[in-house]
Amino acid sequence: MNKKTIRDIDVTGKKVLVRCDFNVPLDENRTITDNRRIVSALPTIQYLIEKGAKVILCSHLGRPKGEVKKEFSLDVVADELSSYLGKEVKLAEDVVGESAKTLTNQMQPGDVVLLENVRFHKEEEKNDPIFSKELASLAEIYVNDAFGTAHRAHSSTEGVSHYLPAVAGFLMEKEIDFLGGALENPAKPFIAILGGAKVSDKIGVIENLLEKVDKLIIGGGMAFTFLKAQGHKIGKSICEEDKLDLARDILKKAEEKKVEILLPVDSHVAKDYSNDAEDSIVHSKEIPDDLEGLDIGPDTIKLFEKAMEGAKTIIWNGPLGVCEFSKYEVGTREVAKAVAATGAISIVGGGDSAAAIEKLGLADKITHISTGGGASLEFLEGKKLPGVECLLDK
Ligand code: 3PG
Repeated sequence: MNKKTIRDIDVTGKKVLVRCDFNVPLDENRTITDNRRIVSALPTIQYLIEKGAKVILCSHLGRPKGEVKKEFSLDVVADELSSYLGKEVKLAEDVVGESAKTLTNQMQPGDVVLLENVRFHKEEEKNDPIFSKELASLAEIYVNDAFGTAHRAHSSTEGVSHYLPAVAGFLMEKEIDFLGGALENPAKPFIAILGGAKVSDKIGVIENLLEKVDKLIIGGGMAFTFLKAQGHKIGKSICEEDKLDLARDILKKAEEKKVEILLPVDSHVAKDYSNDAEDSIVHSKEIPDDLEGLDIGPDTIKLFEKAMEGAKTIIWNGPLGVCEFSKYEVGTREVAKAVAATGAISIVGGGDSAAAIEKLGLADKITHISTGGGASLEFLEGKKLPGVECLLDK
Protein backbone atom coordinates (compact mmCIF):
# COMPACT_ATOMS: atom_id res chain seq x y z
CA MET A 1 0.00 0.00 0.00
CA ASN A 2 1.39 3.41 -0.94
CA LYS A 3 -0.25 5.26 1.95
CA LYS A 4 1.27 6.17 5.30
CA THR A 5 0.19 4.09 8.26
CA ILE A 6 0.26 4.50 12.03
CA ARG A 7 3.81 3.14 11.92
CA ASP A 8 4.89 6.27 10.03
CA ILE A 9 3.70 8.84 12.56
CA ASP A 10 4.52 9.64 16.19
CA VAL A 11 1.37 9.06 18.19
CA THR A 12 2.77 9.04 21.72
CA GLY A 13 0.81 11.31 24.02
CA LYS A 14 -1.29 12.54 21.09
CA LYS A 15 -5.05 12.48 20.68
CA VAL A 16 -5.73 10.15 17.78
CA LEU A 17 -9.14 10.00 16.11
CA VAL A 18 -9.63 6.49 14.71
CA ARG A 19 -12.47 5.86 12.27
CA CYS A 20 -13.50 2.21 12.56
CA ASP A 21 -16.32 0.34 10.90
CA PHE A 22 -18.24 -0.94 13.91
CA ASN A 23 -21.36 -1.36 11.81
CA VAL A 24 -22.05 -4.83 13.20
CA PRO A 25 -25.25 -6.85 12.95
CA LEU A 26 -27.50 -6.85 16.03
CA ASP A 27 -30.41 -9.14 16.85
CA GLU A 28 -33.73 -7.97 18.31
CA ASN A 29 -32.18 -7.85 21.81
CA ARG A 30 -29.35 -5.68 20.48
CA THR A 31 -26.87 -8.51 20.91
CA ILE A 32 -23.99 -8.43 18.42
CA THR A 33 -24.35 -11.48 16.19
CA ASP A 34 -21.05 -11.14 14.32
CA ASN A 35 -18.22 -9.21 15.96
CA ARG A 36 -15.59 -9.72 13.24
CA ARG A 37 -15.40 -6.00 12.46
CA ILE A 38 -14.71 -5.24 16.14
CA VAL A 39 -12.10 -7.98 16.52
CA SER A 40 -10.43 -6.91 13.26
CA ALA A 41 -10.00 -3.36 14.60
CA LEU A 42 -8.20 -4.49 17.77
CA PRO A 43 -4.59 -4.56 16.39
CA THR A 44 -4.73 -0.85 15.57
CA ILE A 45 -6.34 0.09 18.89
CA GLN A 46 -3.92 -2.06 20.89
CA TYR A 47 -0.92 -0.61 19.05
CA LEU A 48 -2.08 2.94 19.79
CA ILE A 49 -2.66 2.10 23.47
CA GLU A 50 0.83 0.57 23.72
CA LYS A 51 2.35 3.67 22.12
CA GLY A 52 0.66 5.86 24.74
CA ALA A 53 -1.79 7.57 22.40
CA LYS A 54 -5.15 8.90 23.57
CA VAL A 55 -7.43 6.80 21.43
CA ILE A 56 -10.69 8.42 20.29
CA LEU A 57 -12.73 5.91 18.32
CA CYS A 58 -15.63 6.76 16.05
CA SER A 59 -17.95 4.80 13.78
CA HIS A 60 -21.43 4.63 12.39
CA LEU A 61 -23.93 1.88 13.19
CA GLY A 62 -26.83 1.30 10.84
CA ARG A 63 -28.57 4.13 9.03
CA PRO A 64 -30.19 6.45 11.61
CA LYS A 65 -30.34 9.18 8.93
CA GLY A 66 -29.10 12.09 11.01
CA GLU A 67 -31.34 11.45 14.00
CA VAL A 68 -30.43 10.33 17.49
CA LYS A 69 -32.05 6.90 17.79
CA LYS A 70 -31.28 4.75 20.81
CA GLU A 71 -31.42 1.50 18.87
CA PHE A 72 -28.41 2.67 16.86
CA SER A 73 -26.30 3.59 19.90
CA LEU A 74 -22.75 2.31 19.96
CA ASP A 75 -23.16 1.33 23.64
CA VAL A 76 -23.05 -2.37 22.73
CA VAL A 77 -19.78 -1.83 20.86
CA ALA A 78 -18.22 0.03 23.82
CA ASP A 79 -19.04 -2.96 26.05
CA GLU A 80 -17.61 -5.46 23.57
CA LEU A 81 -14.44 -3.40 23.14
CA SER A 82 -14.01 -3.02 26.90
CA SER A 83 -14.05 -6.76 27.37
CA TYR A 84 -11.62 -7.42 24.50
CA LEU A 85 -9.20 -4.69 25.57
CA GLY A 86 -9.47 -5.51 29.28
CA LYS A 87 -10.00 -1.84 30.09
CA GLU A 88 -12.93 0.53 30.17
CA VAL A 89 -13.88 2.10 26.86
CA LYS A 90 -15.92 5.17 27.81
CA LEU A 91 -18.80 6.02 25.50
CA ALA A 92 -19.38 9.72 24.86
CA GLU A 93 -23.08 10.57 24.76
CA ASP A 94 -22.57 12.63 21.62
CA VAL A 95 -20.13 13.03 18.73
CA VAL A 96 -18.85 16.62 18.90
CA GLY A 97 -20.86 17.95 21.87
CA GLU A 98 -20.15 18.55 25.55
CA SER A 99 -19.79 14.89 26.46
CA ALA A 100 -17.29 14.19 23.67
CA LYS A 101 -15.28 17.31 24.48
CA THR A 102 -15.20 16.69 28.24
CA LEU A 103 -14.29 13.01 27.96
CA THR A 104 -11.57 13.56 25.35
CA ASN A 105 -10.07 16.46 27.30
CA GLN A 106 -9.76 14.28 30.41
CA MET A 107 -7.91 11.49 28.60
CA GLN A 108 -4.56 10.13 29.74
CA PRO A 109 -2.14 8.28 27.43
CA GLY A 110 -3.50 4.78 26.75
CA ASP A 111 -7.13 5.77 27.44
CA VAL A 112 -9.84 4.86 24.96
CA VAL A 113 -13.04 6.83 24.33
CA LEU A 114 -15.71 5.87 21.79
CA LEU A 115 -17.81 8.68 20.35
CA GLU A 116 -21.51 8.06 19.75
CA ASN A 117 -22.76 7.07 16.29
CA VAL A 118 -21.46 9.67 13.80
CA ARG A 119 -24.61 9.21 11.72
CA PHE A 120 -26.66 10.80 14.52
CA HIS A 121 -25.58 13.99 12.68
CA LYS A 122 -27.01 14.53 9.20
CA GLU A 123 -23.83 16.47 8.35
CA GLU A 124 -21.81 13.24 8.49
CA GLU A 125 -23.14 11.73 5.25
CA LYS A 126 -23.07 15.15 3.57
CA ASN A 127 -19.35 15.40 4.34
CA ASP A 128 -20.12 18.85 5.74
CA PRO A 129 -16.84 20.79 6.17
CA ILE A 130 -17.93 22.54 9.38
CA PHE A 131 -18.86 19.23 10.99
CA SER A 132 -15.65 17.61 9.69
CA LYS A 133 -13.61 20.43 11.22
CA GLU A 134 -15.43 20.13 14.55
CA LEU A 135 -14.83 16.39 14.63
CA ALA A 136 -11.18 16.89 13.69
CA SER A 137 -10.77 19.47 16.46
CA LEU A 138 -11.10 16.68 19.05
CA ALA A 139 -7.78 15.19 17.95
CA GLU A 140 -4.29 15.80 16.56
CA ILE A 141 -3.99 12.83 14.20
CA TYR A 142 -6.56 10.96 12.09
CA VAL A 143 -6.39 7.23 11.45
CA ASN A 144 -8.75 5.58 9.02
CA ASP A 145 -9.16 1.89 9.81
CA ALA A 146 -12.71 1.63 8.47
CA PHE A 147 -12.15 -0.25 5.22
CA GLY A 148 -15.82 -1.28 5.24
CA THR A 149 -16.84 2.38 4.95
CA ALA A 150 -13.94 3.59 2.78
CA HIS A 151 -16.23 3.78 -0.29
CA ARG A 152 -18.18 6.57 1.41
CA ALA A 153 -16.95 10.18 1.26
CA HIS A 154 -18.37 11.19 4.63
CA SER A 155 -17.05 13.58 7.29
CA SER A 156 -15.54 10.84 9.45
CA THR A 157 -14.15 8.84 6.52
CA GLU A 158 -12.84 11.64 4.31
CA GLY A 159 -13.74 15.14 5.53
CA VAL A 160 -11.55 15.10 8.65
CA SER A 161 -8.47 14.33 6.55
CA HIS A 162 -8.54 17.97 5.38
CA TYR A 163 -7.84 19.14 8.92
CA LEU A 164 -5.52 16.49 10.39
CA PRO A 165 -2.54 14.41 9.27
CA ALA A 166 -4.29 11.28 7.99
CA VAL A 167 -2.86 7.76 7.96
CA ALA A 168 -4.14 4.20 7.62
CA GLY A 169 -4.66 1.72 10.45
CA PHE A 170 -3.51 -1.90 10.27
CA LEU A 171 -6.86 -3.27 9.13
CA MET A 172 -7.04 -0.79 6.27
CA GLU A 173 -3.48 -1.68 5.31
CA LYS A 174 -4.22 -5.42 5.42
CA GLU A 175 -7.35 -5.08 3.30
CA ILE A 176 -5.60 -2.99 0.64
CA ASP A 177 -2.58 -5.28 0.63
CA PHE A 178 -4.67 -8.41 0.09
CA LEU A 179 -7.32 -7.09 -2.29
CA GLY A 180 -4.96 -4.72 -4.11
CA GLY A 181 -2.20 -7.34 -4.26
CA ALA A 182 -4.56 -9.83 -5.89
CA LEU A 183 -5.71 -7.30 -8.47
CA GLU A 184 -2.34 -5.81 -9.28
CA ASN A 185 0.09 -8.64 -9.01
CA PRO A 186 -1.71 -11.98 -8.58
CA ALA A 187 0.15 -15.26 -8.45
CA LYS A 188 -1.17 -17.20 -11.47
CA PRO A 189 -3.33 -19.07 -12.25
CA PHE A 190 -5.76 -16.52 -10.90
CA ILE A 191 -9.38 -17.60 -10.53
CA ALA A 192 -12.43 -15.59 -9.54
CA ILE A 193 -15.57 -17.17 -8.11
CA LEU A 194 -18.65 -15.00 -8.27
CA GLY A 195 -22.02 -15.80 -6.78
CA GLY A 196 -24.96 -14.00 -5.25
CA ALA A 197 -28.40 -13.40 -6.62
CA LYS A 198 -27.92 -10.70 -9.21
CA VAL A 199 -25.63 -10.03 -12.15
CA SER A 200 -26.46 -6.33 -11.82
CA ASP A 201 -24.62 -6.16 -8.47
CA LYS A 202 -21.47 -7.58 -10.00
CA ILE A 203 -21.23 -6.01 -13.47
CA GLY A 204 -18.34 -3.71 -12.55
CA VAL A 205 -16.51 -6.52 -10.77
CA ILE A 206 -16.91 -8.93 -13.68
CA GLU A 207 -15.70 -6.34 -16.18
CA ASN A 208 -12.65 -5.49 -14.09
CA LEU A 209 -11.80 -9.11 -13.30
CA LEU A 210 -12.10 -10.24 -16.94
CA GLU A 211 -8.98 -8.17 -17.58
CA LYS A 212 -7.04 -10.08 -14.94
CA VAL A 213 -8.23 -13.63 -14.26
CA ASP A 214 -7.55 -16.91 -16.05
CA LYS A 215 -10.90 -18.46 -15.14
CA LEU A 216 -14.20 -17.09 -13.91
CA ILE A 217 -16.48 -19.44 -12.01
CA ILE A 218 -20.08 -18.27 -11.80
CA GLY A 219 -22.62 -19.74 -9.37
CA GLY A 220 -25.48 -18.50 -7.23
CA GLY A 221 -28.65 -16.97 -8.61
CA MET A 222 -26.73 -14.87 -11.12
CA ALA A 223 -25.67 -17.99 -13.03
CA PHE A 224 -29.24 -18.44 -14.31
CA THR A 225 -29.17 -15.14 -16.18
CA PHE A 226 -26.05 -16.40 -17.99
CA LEU A 227 -27.63 -19.82 -18.67
CA LYS A 228 -30.74 -18.20 -20.08
CA ALA A 229 -28.58 -15.84 -22.17
CA GLN A 230 -27.05 -18.97 -23.71
CA GLY A 231 -30.54 -20.11 -24.66
CA HIS A 232 -31.10 -22.69 -21.92
CA LYS A 233 -34.28 -23.46 -19.99
CA ILE A 234 -33.97 -22.28 -16.39
CA GLY A 235 -37.51 -22.97 -15.12
CA LYS A 236 -38.59 -20.39 -12.58
CA SER A 237 -35.05 -19.71 -11.36
CA ILE A 238 -34.14 -16.09 -10.63
CA CYS A 239 -33.27 -14.22 -13.81
CA GLU A 240 -32.67 -10.57 -14.69
CA GLU A 241 -34.36 -10.35 -18.09
CA ASP A 242 -32.96 -6.88 -18.70
CA LYS A 243 -29.42 -8.17 -18.22
CA LEU A 244 -29.55 -10.97 -20.82
CA ASP A 245 -27.79 -8.88 -23.47
CA LEU A 246 -25.19 -7.83 -20.97
CA ALA A 247 -24.62 -11.47 -19.98
CA ARG A 248 -24.12 -12.35 -23.68
CA ASP A 249 -21.63 -9.47 -24.01
CA ILE A 250 -19.71 -10.70 -21.00
CA LEU A 251 -19.56 -14.24 -22.39
CA LYS A 252 -18.31 -12.90 -25.73
CA LYS A 253 -15.73 -10.67 -24.12
CA ALA A 254 -14.47 -13.57 -22.01
CA GLU A 255 -14.02 -15.64 -25.17
CA GLU A 256 -12.06 -12.84 -26.83
CA LYS A 257 -9.86 -12.46 -23.76
CA LYS A 258 -9.45 -16.24 -23.51
CA VAL A 259 -10.88 -16.27 -20.00
CA GLU A 260 -12.63 -19.55 -19.35
CA ILE A 261 -16.10 -19.06 -17.86
CA LEU A 262 -17.53 -21.96 -15.91
CA LEU A 263 -21.27 -22.13 -15.28
CA PRO A 264 -23.24 -24.75 -13.32
CA VAL A 265 -23.92 -28.00 -15.17
CA ASP A 266 -26.42 -29.28 -12.63
CA SER A 267 -28.61 -27.52 -10.11
CA HIS A 268 -30.24 -28.37 -6.80
CA VAL A 269 -33.80 -27.27 -7.45
CA ALA A 270 -37.10 -27.08 -5.57
CA LYS A 271 -40.73 -26.33 -6.27
CA ASP A 272 -40.58 -23.24 -4.05
CA TYR A 273 -38.10 -20.89 -2.45
CA SER A 274 -38.08 -22.77 0.84
CA ASN A 275 -36.01 -25.29 2.77
CA ASP A 276 -39.04 -27.59 3.05
CA ALA A 277 -40.24 -27.77 -0.55
CA GLU A 278 -39.67 -31.02 -2.49
CA ASP A 279 -36.19 -30.88 -4.02
CA SER A 280 -34.15 -32.67 -6.67
CA ILE A 281 -31.02 -32.39 -8.82
CA VAL A 282 -31.51 -31.55 -12.49
CA HIS A 283 -29.42 -30.57 -15.48
CA SER A 284 -28.86 -26.78 -15.38
CA LYS A 285 -29.66 -26.42 -19.08
CA GLU A 286 -33.05 -28.15 -18.78
CA ILE A 287 -34.74 -26.97 -15.60
CA PRO A 288 -38.45 -27.84 -15.70
CA ASP A 289 -40.86 -24.89 -15.76
CA ASP A 290 -42.20 -25.45 -12.23
CA LEU A 291 -38.79 -25.67 -10.52
CA GLU A 292 -36.23 -23.13 -9.40
CA GLY A 293 -32.50 -23.50 -8.81
CA LEU A 294 -31.41 -22.85 -5.23
CA ASP A 295 -27.88 -24.28 -5.23
CA ILE A 296 -25.27 -25.80 -7.51
CA GLY A 297 -25.46 -29.59 -7.89
CA PRO A 298 -22.84 -32.31 -7.17
CA ASP A 299 -21.46 -32.44 -10.74
CA THR A 300 -20.97 -28.68 -10.67
CA ILE A 301 -19.13 -28.93 -7.36
CA LYS A 302 -16.79 -31.49 -8.99
CA LEU A 303 -16.39 -29.28 -12.08
CA PHE A 304 -15.53 -26.23 -9.98
CA GLU A 305 -13.16 -28.26 -7.78
CA LYS A 306 -11.31 -29.49 -10.87
CA ALA A 307 -11.13 -25.98 -12.31
CA MET A 308 -9.50 -24.73 -9.12
CA GLU A 309 -6.73 -27.34 -9.06
CA GLY A 310 -3.36 -25.64 -9.23
CA ALA A 311 -4.78 -22.15 -8.65
CA LYS A 312 -2.40 -19.76 -6.92
CA THR A 313 -4.82 -16.88 -6.26
CA ILE A 314 -8.58 -17.11 -5.77
CA ILE A 315 -10.95 -14.21 -5.24
CA TRP A 316 -14.46 -15.09 -4.19
CA ASN A 317 -17.49 -12.86 -3.88
CA GLY A 318 -21.04 -14.08 -3.33
CA PRO A 319 -22.51 -17.37 -2.11
CA LEU A 320 -23.17 -20.15 -4.65
CA GLY A 321 -26.55 -21.13 -3.28
CA VAL A 322 -29.23 -19.93 -0.89
CA CYS A 323 -27.19 -20.31 2.31
CA GLU A 324 -30.08 -19.15 4.52
CA PHE A 325 -31.54 -22.63 3.88
CA SER A 326 -29.53 -25.56 5.27
CA LYS A 327 -30.37 -27.75 2.26
CA TYR A 328 -28.89 -25.25 -0.16
CA GLU A 329 -25.66 -24.31 1.61
CA VAL A 330 -23.89 -27.41 0.31
CA GLY A 331 -22.41 -25.81 -2.82
CA THR A 332 -20.94 -22.88 -0.91
CA ARG A 333 -19.57 -25.17 1.78
CA GLU A 334 -17.98 -27.63 -0.64
CA VAL A 335 -16.47 -24.88 -2.77
CA ALA A 336 -15.06 -23.21 0.37
CA LYS A 337 -13.42 -26.52 1.28
CA ALA A 338 -12.07 -26.88 -2.24
CA VAL A 339 -10.70 -23.33 -2.18
CA ALA A 340 -8.87 -24.13 1.06
CA ALA A 341 -7.53 -27.41 -0.38
CA THR A 342 -5.86 -25.64 -3.32
CA GLY A 343 -3.45 -23.89 -0.94
CA ALA A 344 -3.93 -20.77 -3.07
CA ILE A 345 -4.05 -17.29 -1.57
CA SER A 346 -7.80 -17.03 -1.08
CA ILE A 347 -9.60 -13.76 -0.58
CA VAL A 348 -13.28 -13.52 0.15
CA GLY A 349 -15.11 -10.24 -0.39
CA GLY A 350 -17.18 -9.34 2.64
CA GLY A 351 -20.94 -9.04 2.99
CA ASP A 352 -22.98 -12.13 2.14
CA SER A 353 -20.06 -14.35 1.16
CA ALA A 354 -18.18 -13.57 4.38
CA ALA A 355 -21.34 -14.22 6.40
CA ALA A 356 -21.84 -17.55 4.60
CA ILE A 357 -18.24 -18.63 5.26
CA GLU A 358 -18.54 -17.65 8.92
CA LYS A 359 -21.85 -19.46 9.30
CA LEU A 360 -20.37 -22.62 7.83
CA GLY A 361 -17.39 -22.41 10.22
CA LEU A 362 -14.90 -22.21 7.34
CA ALA A 363 -13.34 -18.82 8.06
CA ASP A 364 -10.02 -20.37 9.12
CA LYS A 365 -9.73 -22.01 5.70
CA ILE A 366 -9.58 -18.68 3.88
CA THR A 367 -6.44 -16.51 3.74
CA HIS A 368 -8.31 -13.22 4.06
CA ILE A 369 -11.98 -12.43 4.58
CA SER A 370 -12.63 -8.78 3.90
CA THR A 371 -14.54 -6.69 6.44
CA GLY A 372 -15.94 -4.67 3.54
CA GLY A 373 -19.19 -5.48 1.77
CA GLY A 374 -19.90 -2.60 -0.61
CA ALA A 375 -16.34 -1.34 -0.14
CA SER A 376 -14.74 -4.60 -1.27
CA LEU A 377 -17.05 -4.74 -4.30
CA GLU A 378 -16.11 -1.19 -5.31
CA PHE A 379 -12.45 -2.00 -4.78
CA LEU A 380 -12.75 -5.11 -6.97
CA GLU A 381 -14.45 -2.95 -9.60
CA GLY A 382 -11.21 -0.97 -9.71
CA LYS A 383 -12.77 2.15 -8.22
CA LYS A 384 -10.79 4.52 -6.03
CA LEU A 385 -12.08 4.61 -2.45
CA PRO A 386 -12.35 8.14 -0.97
CA GLY A 387 -11.44 6.90 2.52
CA VAL A 388 -8.15 5.59 1.15
CA GLU A 389 -7.39 8.30 -1.39
CA CYS A 390 -7.51 11.00 1.32
CA LEU A 391 -4.67 9.46 3.33
CA LEU A 392 -1.10 10.75 3.17
CA ASP A 393 1.07 9.18 0.49
CA LYS A 394 4.13 7.24 1.60
C1 3PG B 1 -21.27 -1.72 5.42
O1 3PG B 1 -21.86 -2.37 6.28
O2 3PG B 1 -21.15 -2.12 4.24
C2 3PG B 1 -20.57 -0.44 5.83
O3 3PG B 1 -20.56 -0.28 7.19
C3 3PG B 1 -21.17 0.75 5.12
O4 3PG B 1 -22.48 0.95 5.54
P1 3PG B 1 -23.49 1.84 4.64
O5 3PG B 1 -23.79 1.01 3.43
O6 3PG B 1 -24.67 2.10 5.50
O7 3PG B 1 -22.75 3.09 4.25
